Amino acid sequence: MTIPRPAAVVVLAAGEGTRMRSATPKVLHTLAGRSMLAHALATARALDPERVTVVVRHGRDLVVDHLRQVDPEAIVADQDDVPGTGRAVQVALAALEARSPLSGAVVVMAGDVPLLDAGTLEQMLAAHAADDNAVTLLSTEVPDPTGYGRVLRGADGGVVAIVEEKDADDEQRAIREINTSTYVFDADVLRSALGRLGRDNAAGEVYLTDVVALAHRDGRRVHALLTDDPATVEGVNDRVQLAAIRAELNRRILEEWMRAGVTIVDPATTWVDVDVELGQDVTLLPGTQLHGATVVSEGATVGPDTTLTDVEVGPGAVVVRSHGSLSVIGPHATVGPYSYLRPGTMLGTDGKIGAFVETKNTSIGTGSKVPHLSYIGDAEIGDHTNVGAASVTANYDGVDKHRTTIGSHVRIGADTMFVAPVTIGDGAFTGAGTVVRFDVPPGALAISANDQRTLLGWVDRTRPGSAAAEAAARARGPVAGAPPGDDLPDTDETATDEKDTTR
Ligand code: UD1
Ligand code: CA
Repeated sequence: MTIPRPAAVVVLAAGEGTRMRSATPKVLHTLAGRSMLAHALATARALDPERVTVVVRHGRDLVVDHLRQVDPEAIVADQDDVPGTGRAVQVALAALEARSPLSGAVVVMAGDVPLLDAGTLEQMLAAHAADDNAVTLLSTEVPDPTGYGRVLRGADGGVVAIVEEKDADDEQRAIREINTSTYVFDADVLRSALGRLGRDNAAGEVYLTDVVALAHRDGRRVHALLTDDPATVEGVNDRVQLAAIRAELNRRILEEWMRAGVTIVDPATTWVDVDVELGQDVTLLPGTQLHGATVVSEGATVGPDTTLTDVEVGPGAVVVRSHGSLSVIGPHATVGPYSYLRPGTMLGTDGKIGAFVETKNTSIGTGSKVPHLSYIGDAEIGDHTNVGAASVTANYDGVDKHRTTIGSHVRIGADTMFVAPVTIGDGAFTGAGTVVRFDVPPGALAISANDQRTLLGWVDRTRPGSAAAEAAARARGPVAGAPPGDDLPDTDETATDEKDTTR
């Protein structure tokens, strides 16, 4: 079955969305990493239409700015102050036909129905063409049809009209088959009927739904495709519905990945955006959220309790209880627990970013490790280098950021400070507690620790009788006849030194 290509798709997005109670226009609220509008446009574009238009009014500038980002080719149709879906499509058709008239199928869909998929629209387009329909609309049966337009069928079962809740009589209100606001129209039929729409109804609006009755009266064929999946056609009116639809979309996304060979241990606490890609035998542990353009390659494990946004995770890598964005984790590398990968982190093959480590704008080479309690920013680390616990790049002088370059096969002692800009050559070492202020040549050892001074007996003199003094006395053992501390040789202690040491 070849799917006929529509001449145009109209996305309705001018409505106010009052029940969202939001400063953000309704269609800009997001689920699974996209706005509702972007979901609608992705569905529209999947049909490969010649033209796409979005009807805007409420929050117009915000919606148009967003539209320019997600679909710059889409034509903006500004609705005026005449209300109603019929008016919306009138302005849409005018915008679409500004350059040349349309002929063929015109799809009309609402911008607040995020689960509506291209497959459903393709079924409608196929039926529309096969049966030579003038109007093909999508309907569904719901237990409570309150608020929706009802589908009226004639004696032969054919669709004769749609009647809105406000205009319906009791008998019509009892009908549970509702209009979903998703249609395929023949362009000529639509143009002709739109020209004849009035506002003579309970709402005083121009109803798009009146096109159905007009086409029927003209003797044209109207068909309603009845879907048995109400979630697919459910519109979002408030944030409670948005949450329910978001959960349903997530459930569908996860189900697709599980069928494609991904293990998801706890679907209830796992969230995966629409654009995320997962390889075979990826395992997602509970509490994992994968956002944006995140890619997890085959055999990698992510989670538990991990949030990744626009992160590439290499094959076989393991990411535990961590938070990352705009980063690349190499094949078989390990991250976490409790790592924070900020934008520009590139971890090489077999590399490691360990517990309580924050990285930013840093590349870490093959087999190199930053295992514990460090901040590494604006740095480049070669291959097979180890950065000791609690090491920090002092990359910011209050005005500019500076780079730290660390070579391959380097051994950084615990608690090394890199005062950038600074370069550590291949095969160099630093001692524990070193403050590296000058470049360290290849193969050198840098140590900057001050000589340690030990003031013997200091506790006995300054904290006599304290628990510490008693513990020290026990450890030293008894010294016959000696006052506390007198067993100890004098050091270079001076009043100044003692002040220094007790600071
Ligand atoms: C409409 C249908 C109703 C259907 C229901 C499904 C009409 C007259 N009624 O109801 O049969 O059961 O959708 O949800 O069409 N919009 C505009 N401009 C406007 C008004 C609305 O662009 O002036 C857009 C909204 O942004 C929304 C869509 O059209 O995306 C539907 O509008 P909404 O107000 O939710 O639908 P109803 O008119 O209540
Ligand atoms: Ca609605």
